[in-house]
Amino acid sequence: MEKLKVGIIGCGSIVPKHLKAVVENSDKMELAALCDTIPEKMDMAQAEYIKSDGTCQGRIKKYTDYRKLLEDPEIHIVTVATISGIRPKIALDALDAGKHVILEKPMALSTKEADEIIKKSEEKGLKVSVCHQLRFLPYMMKLKEEVDLGAFGKLVHASASMRWNRSDAYYSSAPWRGTWEYDGGAFMNQAIHVIDLLLWLMGEPERVYAETGTFLKKIEAEDAGAAVIRFKNGAVGIVEASVCVYPENLEETLGIFGENGTVLIGGKALNKIEVWNVKGKMPYEPKEIPTNLHMLLYEDMADAVVNDRQPLVNAREGKRAVELVLSIYKSSLTGKPVDMPLGDFSTKDMLGGKM
Ligand SMILES: NC(=O)c1ccc[n+]([C@@H]2O[C@H](COP(=O)([O-])OP(=O)(O)OC[C@H]3O[C@@H](n4cnc5c(N)ncnc54)[C@H](O)[C@@H]3O)[C@@H](O)[C@H]2O)c1
Repeated sequence: MEKLKVGIIGCGSIVPKHLKAVVENSDKMELAALCDTIPEKMDMAQAEYIKSDGTCQGRIKKYTDYRKLLEDPEIHIVTVATISGIRPKIALDALDAGKHVILEKPMALSTKEADEIIKKSEEKGLKVSVCHQLRFLPYMMKLKEEVDLGAFGKLVHASASMRWNRSDAYYSSAPWRGTWEYDGGAFMNQAIHVIDLLLWLMGEPERVYAETGTFLKKIEAEDAGAAVIRFKNGAVGIVEASVCVYPENLEETLGIFGENGTVLIGGKALNKIEVWNVKGKMPYEPKEIPTNLHMLLYEDMADAVVNDRQPLVNAREGKRAVELVLSIYKSSLTGKPVDMPLGDFSTKDMLGGKM
C-alpha cells in the first residue's frame, strides 16, 4: 500500500515530536514537505529528520508559504504546528485543499473557529486529529475504560491541577506566548491537556465558575487561576492551573473519585500512578509507558484515514477543552458562573479586561 505523505507547517520547538512520530510510523507514512516562514527552522527540522531516516535525503520539499504546501498533490496529511492563533485559518485552508489535518493544541482560540473546523471536516469527510496526546497513555486508556464500564459507581468529584513554572525567558523568546490574540495563558496553553482528560473521563460540563489573574508573569493572559465545574452527571470538578509555582514545575495531577473507586495520577506531568483503587479490581500497572505519545496519535490518524473512521481526538473532541477554557475565561471576566454550552466566545474577548 502507498505510504501516506505528511507535510508539516510550523517547525518550532514542538516539531521534533512530530518528526519522530512520522519516523516511528515509517511503515505507514513518510515526510514529504516542511513549511516555516523562517527557512533556517525548516533546515533544522530537515536535518533532524534525516538523522533518523537517512533514506529520505533530498526528497523533502520546503515551502515558506503554507499555501504552496497545500497545493502539493502528493500530500495526504498536513500537520499544523504553528503558533496557536493562526492555526484555525491554516487548518480550514488545508481542509479546503482536501487534506487530512493533525492539529496542535489548542485546536482554536474561539468556539466559532472550532465549530468551523468541525463543520468543514465533516462536510468534506476529512479527518482531523487534535494533539491531546496524553489520552494515549496506557493508564489513561485503562482509566477511561473503567469509568465507561461503570466500575467507579456514582462519580462524586474530580480534580485536575497543574502546578508548574514558566520562566520569563520562555515568554520573551516567542512574543506570541501569553497574548490573548495568539495564545492565552496557563489554562489555554498548558493546562488544556489535563482539562481534556478531565472532560474525556467525567463527561459534559453544565456550569463553570472561575477566578483567574496575572500575578507574576509579564503577559496579557492569566498566569494562574482556579475553576469549579458542575458536570451534567451531577459530579463536581476542580481545576487549578499555575505557571507561577516557585521555583520550578511541581506537579500535574488528575484525580477521579467515585462511589467505588479512587484513582490519582500525579508526578511532574501526569507520569506517575499515585493511587489506583477500584473496588473488585486488581491495582493496574502498565507494562510499558511510551515516551513519544505523538507517535501513537499519528498511528491512530493513519489508521483513521486508511479505514475511514474517526481519530480518537477528532475535531468535536478537540473543541471540548477549548470551550471549557473559554468558559473559565468568560466567568473570570464577568465574575459570574457560565452555563454550557458557551456560545460564541474568543480569547480576543478578554482584551480590554473586566466586563
Ligand atoms: N501537544 C503538546 O504537548 C505541545 C507542546 C508544545 C507546544 N504545543 C503547541 O504547538 C504550537 C507551537 O508551539 P512551539 O513551542 O513549537 O512554538 P514556536 O514559537 O517554537 O514555533 C512556532 C513556529 O511556527 C512558525 N510559523 C509562524 N507563522 C507561520 C506561518 N504562517 N507559516 C508557517 N510557519 C509559521 C514560526 O516561525 C515557528 O517556527 C503551539 O500552539 C503550542 O501550544 C503543543
